[in-house]
Amino acid sequence: MSTEIRSERITTRDIRARKGGEPIAALTAYTTPMARLLDPHVDVLLVGDSLGMVLYGMDTTLGVTLDMMIAHGRAVVRGSERACVIVDMPFGTYQESPAQAFRSAARVLAETGAAGVKLEGGSEIAETIAFLAARGIPVMAHIGLKPQAVHVAGGYRAHGRDEREAAAIRADARAIADAGAFAVVVEGTVEPLARVLTGEIAIPTIGIGASPACDGQVLVIDDLLGLFNDFTPKFVKRYAELAPTVSEAVRAYAADVRARAFPTAAHCFGAVKGKRGAPRG
Ligand code: KIV
Repeated sequence: MSTEIRSERITTRDIRARKGGEPIAALTAYTTPMARLLDPHVDVLLVGDSLGMVLYGMDTTLGVTLDMMIAHGRAVVRGSERACVIVDMPFGTYQESPAQAFRSAARVLAETGAAGVKLEGGSEIAETIAFLAARGIPVMAHIGLKPQAVHVAGGYRAHGRDEREAAAIRADARAIADAGAFAVVVEGTVEPLARVLTGEIAIPTIGIGASPACDGQVLVIDDLLGLFNDFTPKFVKRYAELAPTVSEAVRAYAADVRARAFPTAAHCFGAVKGKRGAPRG
């Protein structure tokens, strides 16, 4: 009898092996229906803590909890069968110590079925990444612009313009790669730096606002679909404009309800013709 474990899912090892090869396509997903739509097309579904801002209307990602990430992680795993699902570790659940990070990450993997976790940080969390990797937890790192550190970074700005900052980000990239991360998100980083560090480290870089020099790209799905009417960051390409489509559909529905044009007989069970308020369609 064969003891081989078979899975159709893309693994973190597959992602690691894509270094310098076909670019990795990644997107955020937070819910089962969206995961179902994205799964056939992308390599990585990232359950990002951006969900705090995108789904819950928070100003930053700092208020996102581990329980929120676990609930959404489980939903995305349920809605996918092919993509490698990675779940963000939220602020305050891993920075204190490697042991705290292990407890939080173990809950994420056990309770969601995801393939790995993502941690924001560079040299300062290298020891934690090594601790987790040695204990069977695949880690995607996240360097450059780190939204959980927005208050010390001086807002959401492009990183690596000056030499000191660029050198620090290069050191971060080397530290997390040496510690055993299987891939790294590089966010909001100028093109020349993204190119240099992609050439310097042996694991794939997945860029968001970090140029085509990276080994892959990730975007927030709601940005790509144009589900927002407000500000679009420079690095986002909107592949659809769904916000006006949603608005128009909802306007038409409300008008139909007010005009008793919905529901019609086609939408009713056992409709009685001719009764006031009964469907006319
Ligand atoms: O939280 C998130 O969605 C992310 C991506 C934007 C990389 O970290």
